[in-house]
Amino acid sequence: MRQMHLGLFLLGTGSHVAGWRMPGAVTSFQDIQAIQAMAAQAERGCFDLIFMGDNLYADPGAHPSYTVRLEPLTMLAALAMVTKHIGLGATVATTYSDPWSVARAFASLDHISGGRAAWNAVTGSSAQAGPNFGRLHPNHAERYAIAAEFVEVVRGLWDGWEEDALVADRESGLYVDPARLHKLNHEGAHFSVQGPLNIGRSPQGRPVILQAGGSDAGLDLAARTADVVFAVVQEFEEARTQYAALKSRLPALGRRPEEVAVLPGVMPIVGRTEREALDKLAQLQAFISPTNARQLLQDRLGVDLAGRDMDAPLGDMPLFDGGHGFARALLNKARRDNLTLRDIYNLLGAARGHWVLCGAAEQVADTLQHWFENGAADGFNVMPSHFPGGMEDFVELVVPILQRRGLFRTRYEGTTLRDLLGLRRPARGEG
Ligand SMILES: Cc1cc2nc3c(=O)[nH]c(=O)nc-3n(C[C@H](O)[C@H](O)[C@H](O)COP(=O)(O)O)c2cc1C
Repeated sequence: MRQMHLGLFLLGTGSHVAGWRMPGAVTSFQDIQAIQAMAAQAERGCFDLIFMGDNLYADPGAHPSYTVRLEPLTMLAALAMVTKHIGLGATVATTYSDPWSVARAFASLDHISGGRAAWNAVTGSSAQAGPNFGRLHPNHAERYAIAAEFVEVVRGLWDGWEEDALVADRESGLYVDPARLHKLNHEGAHFSVQGPLNIGRSPQGRPVILQAGGSDAGLDLAARTADVVFAVVQEFEEARTQYAALKSRLPALGRRPEEVAVLPGVMPIVGRTEREALDKLAQLQAFISPTNARQLLQDRLGVDLAGRDMDAPLGDMPLFDGGHGFARALLNKARRDNLTLRDIYNLLGAARGHWVLCGAAEQVADTLQHWFENGAADGFNVMPSHFPGGMEDFVELVVPILQRRGLFRTRYEGTTLRDLLGLRRPARGEG
């Protein structure tokens, strides 16, 4: 029976912008012990992977607890030491890094974790990073042109070492066989990289690649290179469309649909009863400040609220250059449900533009099952509102229902993230 894949998205102390204000919630995302406890919860729930978001600037306005964070790869290396099975995904933006360093860092994490590393290759949605790197934020098309070349170079570098290039033969004195190391000699529009890396082929052959762009360029890049795709959707039909848009690109690229898992983002607000769940959501929503929501509108839609009537319908507007995926999902929802700016503002405050699924555990499980079985998802990117409570509700109440229904694993099998995702270990130079 086909099984769901579940990812835990770590974004600050929770994906709700004000989740940290819940009584008893974790308040610091630089507290490694608290983060270890989040990873342990996910492993208890048999999740496929933890996936850490990142930004390259500090802005306390939109999502305060996301302003303070540990550098993702450093943090995941620490988690690799206290977890056993779960995949470890970090976001690194292609606009503000270089392929050699990224290839090296993820190969290192793959070795450290015994084959559990994943790279979320984002273009970087915010112009606020630019001044920290002494450059202007490139426009959308340029960001994706850079990203496409960047990912190609990283994959090439991961393939630079043959499996058995590290010989370490005491007898002959041969340590590394130079004939089994291959230069990349890449010369492109944006990067010039010789290679090879100074680290051997990693346990997964290549670390897993995650992608989260929802624009046409984002879907093209994902179809060519990603193993897992995170979708931004607000409702079922939209999720089916997004799912089909990605899967339909694969055959022409010589890839099978099951080679790429599409996981829509979802913030589950779960109660023992529907009433209890609705009360939790209301409690969370009451913590949102106008500053949070205003800044998020700016970040997701590029809308400046100065002089706008909060109770007028949002109306039509062009897709925001900062990111098409979120803007499209929000504009579609506003059109469908005739939402005002204030409605959008509240929606954004909850899950930053992701889908909020609120209900009793059985209702939540029913909806996830419906999406999974009807062409809208291969699993879900779970975005708890806060920790430990928001995650605990999902792991303790929803996961057992999915397991009882045979939709989700009850224990880990295999050793690498590729094993969990049902993906083959690629040979050098393959696909
Ligand atoms: C689940 C999810 C997580 C994301 N995490 C990050 C992140 O950590 N950092 C970032 O800069 N962008 C992040 N993004 C943004 C996208 O990856 C992408 O760069 C942006 O939306 C622009 O792409 P698009 O126009 O193709 O949608 C995330 C998107 C999604 C759906």
